[in-house]
Formats: sequence, C-alpha cells, structure tokens
Amino acid sequence: MDAERRHAAGNGETETGGAPDPDTVRARDRRHVWHTWSPLSADRSRLTLARGRGYRVWDIDGREYIDAASLNTVCGYAHPHVAEAVGRQLGRLHQFDLSLASHEPAGLLAERLSSYLPEQFAKTLFVNSGSEGIEAAVVIADGYWAHLGRPRRRVVTFARGYHGSTVINRSLSGLPRVRHAFSPALPVTHVDLPVPPGELHRPESLAPLLSAFERALCADADDPPMAVLVEPFLNVGGGVVLPPGFLKGLSELCAATGTLLILDEVFTAFGRTGRMFACQREEVLPDILVTSKGLSGGYVPIAAVTVHQRVHDTFRADPVIGGLRYGHTTSGHPVACAAALATLDVVEREGLAERAERLGARLRDRLGALAGTGEVTDVRGLGLVLVVELSSAEAAAGLVSRAEGLGLLLRQPGEAVMAVPSLTIDEEGAETVADLLEQAVAKGAS
Ligand SMILES: Cc1ncc(COP(=O)(O)O)c(C=O)c1O
Repeated sequence: MDAERRHAAGNGETETGGAPDPDTVRARDRRHVWHTWSPLSADRSRLTLARGRGYRVWDIDGREYIDAASLNTVCGYAHPHVAEAVGRQLGRLHQFDLSLASHEPAGLLAERLSSYLPEQFAKTLFVNSGSEGIEAAVVIADGYWAHLGRPRRRVVTFARGYHGSTVINRSLSGLPRVRHAFSPALPVTHVDLPVPPGELHRPESLAPLLSAFERALCADADDPPMAVLVEPFLNVGGGVVLPPGFLKGLSELCAATGTLLILDEVFTAFGRTGRMFACQREEVLPDILVTSKGLSGGYVPIAAVTVHQRVHDTFRADPVIGGLRYGHTTSGHPVACAAALATLDVVEREGLAERAERLGARLRDRLGALAGTGEVTDVRGLGLVLVVELSSAEAAAGLVSRAEGLGLLLRQPGEAVMAVPSLTIDEEGAETVADLLEQAVAKGAS
C-alpha cells in the first residue's frame, strides 16, 4: 500500500472510500496489536469499537452498547465542547517542553485545580498517565524527607491497592497479577483487608481497618514510613468500598505519626464519587493528590500531581538543581491541558458530581435486592460506580459476557463486576443499565 492509500485507510475509510471490512480490521489487530494486561489467548478484536457519542459506543459491525466499562469517560464521547477546545489548541500550539518554557493552558489548568482546594495547594506537576503521577508522588515524598534531613523510604499501602504499572508502582501493590521480578523496588508494608471486601463498606469495619493501618504505620519505630498511599475506592482490587470515616481516621493517624498522606484519586476524582474529589466526602486533605482519568475525560492522556506548598518548597534544598528532577518532554501537553479545562467546564456546568451521587444512589436502591440471589453476594457502590460482587471470578466473567450480549459493557475486577457509565448518562440511560444488569443476572440463574 502506498503512503496516500494508507492515509485514506487510516482515516477510517478503505481504499475505495467505503466502510472498513470488519474481518480485515480484526485480522490486522490479531496480527499486530499487543493488548495491555491481556492473556495471549484472549482475542480483544472480538469487540472492536468504531465510534462513540454521549454514553454509547458502536462496534465495527454497527452494534450499539452502553459503555459502563470505561474508567476515564466522565463526560462521554464526542462532547462538542471538548472536541472544539482540542481542535483549537491543536491549531494554536500543540506542544512545548515545560522544562524550558511555559504556555497558557498549563497555567490555566494548574490554577483551575488549585481553585477546587485550599490555597496551600497552589502547585501542580503534570505528567501523562496515572502510573506516572503515582510514581512522581513517591519520588516527591522521598525528596521531601531527604530535604528535611530525615530520610525515610517505607510506604504503607493496601495489599489490594493498584497504583499503576511502572516498576515502583508495581511494588506498591500486593495483587498477584501486578507482582513483577524487580519487586520490591522500595520497602512497602501492605495492609490486608481485615474483613471480606463485601463487608468492608459497613460502619463496623472502620475500627479494624484503622487498627490495621495503625499497626502498619507503627510497625518499626526505627523505620517510620515516608507516606501512606491509598485509593479512596479500591478499583482494580475488587471494587472495594471503604467504610465511612476511613479517610478521616487515616489522615488523623498520619498527622499523629508525621507521615505524608498521598491520595490516589486517579480514578475517583472529578465527579465520579459524587464530589469533585472523593476526599471531599470526608473533608480530608492529603499532602499529595494524584488525579488523572476524569481530568481530561479520556480525550487526551494527562495526570496531575497537586501538592501542599510545604512539600513543594523543600525542593529548593535539592542538592543538584534546587528543584524537582522529574518529568517528561510531553508533561503538561497543551492539547491535554485544553482537553482537561474543557472537561472540567462540562463537569461543573452540567453538575456531573451531583448527577453521579443521585443516579448512583438510585442504581444501588434498585439493584440492592439482587444481593443474596443466585450468584450475587453483594451490591455496593460509591457515586456513579456500581459494584455487583459474585461468588467467583468465573461467575463474574459470565455476567460480563451476558451483559455484553445484551448491549452493556462492564468491567470485571476479580469476583466483582463494575458498572462505570459516563457521568453524562441520563435517567433513562441509568434505568437501562439497571434493566440490562437484572436481565444478565437472571439469564445466569436460568
Ligand atoms: C487508582 C489507580 N491508580 C493508578 C492507575 C494507573 O493509571 P494509568 O493506567 O493511567 O497508568 C489506575 C488505573 O486504572 C488506577 O485505577
């Protein structure tokens, strides 16, 4: 194929200008694409998507689905406000290295993030993925203690936590599928859940969970931790909802022991949990806040590491450059910043956090009755994240597959099934998610 014909095909058209042949598209994928986090036996081309609009997507055969599987799409697909902002920035200034200069979108986005937080959170470092954001947070915490002249290394995390796929991040998780040959890249104390995941959201689980963290924090008086790093909702670790008061209690423990609190809000920020940030549910502030997915609604990759001024200011003491020795040439990419600013406009203008709270509660009310029926052991959630836990991972996989057959795309963290629709979904769409889930559960029982 010559360059011109290849270009036409890349625009979604065949050489003759017609719709691409689904078999050809799938065969190309099977031949050339190495899919992330997938067994080699899995054929991901089975579901090959062609386009999206609002909370729906269509595959290359023209089949329509409600997308309740994408973690990033807080404001849906093809939102005109975001598309227009991205196009405008692409034509104006598509890149410049923030280690050499600045540009307006980076300043506007950092300012916008700080406007959601108290004034001590004026500084944000931009990177390109949630993984990079968490790794940067760990590097920053390490630097903070080094600059104070009291080096610390140990990190306390949930054993079931997931913080990304770089070498440092993989050491932070105790999940078997995340383990790797270089573990541990740094000393980590993993905290196991004191009760099964389905029981953790109950108020009576708070005391044993906080005691487990207290033991981990105080495990070795000669080796105090540099940071506690947690997600406000364990996503990959099984759709685990933490008991009310946990973040508040944890932040008090951190204050009492002088430990930095890093919150991984890569998934939970920007409306998903019914607030701009999940930590605002308990009026808790971390020392370092990492956000990503919903920040740009998945339109262009970006992550933000927003830090307390007192953490930032210690970096004047860095012995080599007197600042942070971390970043990427694409950090704070102007198009990503423009996508994020437009996404945040949508989150604010369309009241997406309030909508997530309202529709999420409705879904839980309606589907709560499934708990204890057939293979369903628990129904829980937070904001617009609905979790249906099943008796086994195989049962969960079966439910996801039946739902897909009915036109609903879901996620499957272990024994749980998660519905994570776009926050722009309307009441009718949310009722359809509930209808299809009920039908998929019922089909499994018959
Ligand atoms: C809580 C959390 N932290 C970190 C990450 C890693 O983000 P990324 O996949 O953008 O590297 C994820 C991804 O799912 C996540 O859910």
